[in-house]
Amino acid sequence: MTLLIDGIGELVTNDPGLGHGPLGLLTDAAIVVDEGRVAWVGQRSAAPAADRRIDADGRAVVPGFVDSHSHLVFAGDRAAEFAARMAGEPYSGGGIRTTVAATRAASDDELHATVGRIRREMLRQGTTTIEIKSGYGLSVSDEPRSLAVAREFTDETTFLGAHVVPADTDPDVYTALVCGAMLDAAAPYARWVDVFCERGAFDVDQSRAVLTAGMSAGLGARIHANQLTPGGGVRLAVELGAASADHCTHLSVEDIDALAGLKADGVAGTVATLLPGAEFSTRSPYPNARALLDAGATVALATDCNPGSSYTSSMPFCIALAVREMRMTPAEAVWSATAGGARALRRADVGHLAVGARADLAILDAPSHLHLAYRPGVPLVHLVLLNGEPK
Ligand code: NIG
Ligand code: FE
Repeated sequence: MTLLIDGIGELVTNDPGLGHGPLGLLTDAAIVVDEGRVAWVGQRSAAPAADRRIDADGRAVVPGFVDSHSHLVFAGDRAAEFAARMAGEPYSGGGIRTTVAATRAASDDELHATVGRIRREMLRQGTTTIEIKSGYGLSVSDEPRSLAVAREFTDETTFLGAHVVPADTDPDVYTALVCGAMLDAAAPYARWVDVFCERGAFDVDQSRAVLTAGMSAGLGARIHANQLTPGGGVRLAVELGAASADHCTHLSVEDIDALAGLKADGVAGTVATLLPGAEFSTRSPYPNARALLDAGATVALATDCNPGSSYTSSMPFCIALAVREMRMTPAEAVWSATAGGARALRRADVGHLAVGARADLAILDAPSHLHLAYRPGVPLVHLVLLNGEPK
């Protein structure tokens, strides 16, 4: 069964070869989907016939958002912590342990229901690819349990046993556990390994140990780096060839150069994944996206959806923040939320709409991608296709 979507007022392909500018924009366009893939893309007037047809009626179409950073396997609620922050309390990451206690006490069914609920929220807002981390289990049994739940929703699962050191535990003893028995139990359910490299969490040496152990077990590396304070996390990510350094809130010139540098040599670079929902929800300064982009770094945007620092599931909200607060252009923000996220997950099949890509897309109740930032807080997603199927 082939499906023709025509009447597309503006189509973001993210393929500069197909259309105008870095977003590869086409106007008055059409797409044909076959077997869950894009089979044809071009001008409406040249579109081939298909078995079924959707008339986009002048609406804009964008690739489905790729949310490359989330922490959805949790239980409990930290709304009071948020309220205290808005009244002036700083965010330190200390609330993570509150969520760990609630998560350990929750049943598999409860965890599954929470992930499913937020996954549906995300889909309604145009997100079609999602990464999910563990990190609220922090034990040899609870980390793989969290990942097994996440695996029911995505292949992009990340082992974050090194999120914080549990209470009354020696940091080096815990790091050794993460690199040993916990990794052994978690690796079958994970594609990635991550660590919170931060004062009060894991230092650079401990982070290097966690990531190299994960890589030896066949996992790809990503890292929470330079979120609350400056430090060596970003440079560690680049040194190890991590797919992504996430947060990047406190960057030095050397950090920016490191993130911009490797790409020039043609080596798969480390993407800078910015999470402006976290700065919004912790009332922190936003990362310097302009410096990263102007230096030539690849930037992704993601929600960081979690019950503590960023309880939003909305990529359109993150796009609006990136434009208003981080001075990204709307085109840069839309690219980063789609193709950028795909790069951060080292995925070539999502984040764009050229022939052969997965037919994951959002039809917007808007005439152009600009409206994603121009109309913040407005539900603009008319219809989502996941793998070619309307959702
Ligand atoms: O990415 N920084 C570490 N982890 C999460 C926050 C988790 C929490 O506060 O529960 C983050 O912001
Ligand atoms: Fe995070």
